[in-house]
Amino acid sequence: MSRITFFVSLSSLLFGLGIYFSSCSSDQLPASYDEIGICFETEILPIIISNCTQGGCHNPIDRAEGLDYSTYNGIMESVKPFNANKSELYEYIISTDPAERMPLPPYDPLSIEEIALIKDWIEKGAPETIDCQSACDSTLINPVNVSFQNQVLPILDAKCNGCHSGPSPDGGIDQSTWSAVKATVNDGSFLGCIKHEGGFSPMPKFASKLPSCEIDVIETWVNEGALDN
Ligand code: HEC
Repeated sequence: MSRITFFVSLSSLLFGLGIYFSSCSSDQLPASYDEIGICFETEILPIIISNCTQGGCHNPIDRAEGLDYSTYNGIMESVKPFNANKSELYEYIISTDPAERMPLPPYDPLSIEEIALIKDWIEKGAPETIDCQSACDSTLINPVNVSFQNQVLPILDAKCNGCHSGPSPDGGIDQSTWSAVKATVNDGSFLGCIKHEGGFSPMPKFASKLPSCEIDVIETWVNEGALDN
């Protein structure tokens, strides 16, 4: 083999390997929101933050078991993409052993819908889908006659009440009933926290601000008198 032929075949071999490896890694490129239909940023992360990063738990300060679930990378330490049953995060949220089930009692377990969504997301590869168009459902734009039970409380249950319900809610603040929320509306902390105004703790804690359409709904409800409706 001449030296030139040797280099030609060596370089085509390397070129071939290059194609092989790059096609391999492109199979693992993170899926987009359009492909998997689940938004990590607005659907998965809020459930995990609200239910796993309460005081003493998996937040950047307390890091229970060394885990901080307030970020994608932190969550992925307990997730095996494409395999929910081999993912510790999933094993613990479905456990029926009260010493093991997360969140630990007396916190409520995740709902069946939340567990199904997390499972589906893991089975689809657990991608970090962000900037998803669905974050603000168009039906929520310019809301009027906002209902506490049907519109405000579902947002609070999804984004706040992993921390702010039960026998010892974070900060001693409950946000799971109308009268408890009304107390925080009256002292100004409810909107102050949600809108990240100075002098109030930004909420939801450890997470980004609520999407603007959800803030609109909540603020409209407050401006309409914070009714028990
Ligand atoms: C991860 C847990 C967690 C989540 C999620 C969370 N909070 Fe909080 N919240 C806390 C803690 C802890 C405090 C006590 C103050 C602090 O540590 O910042 C607090 C304090 C508050 C206070 C009183 C703070 C003040 O400045 O007077 C209000 C009101 C509040 N939260 C509302 C909310 C609302 C509304 C949401 C959802 C949009 C929410 N929180 C989401 C943990 C959480």
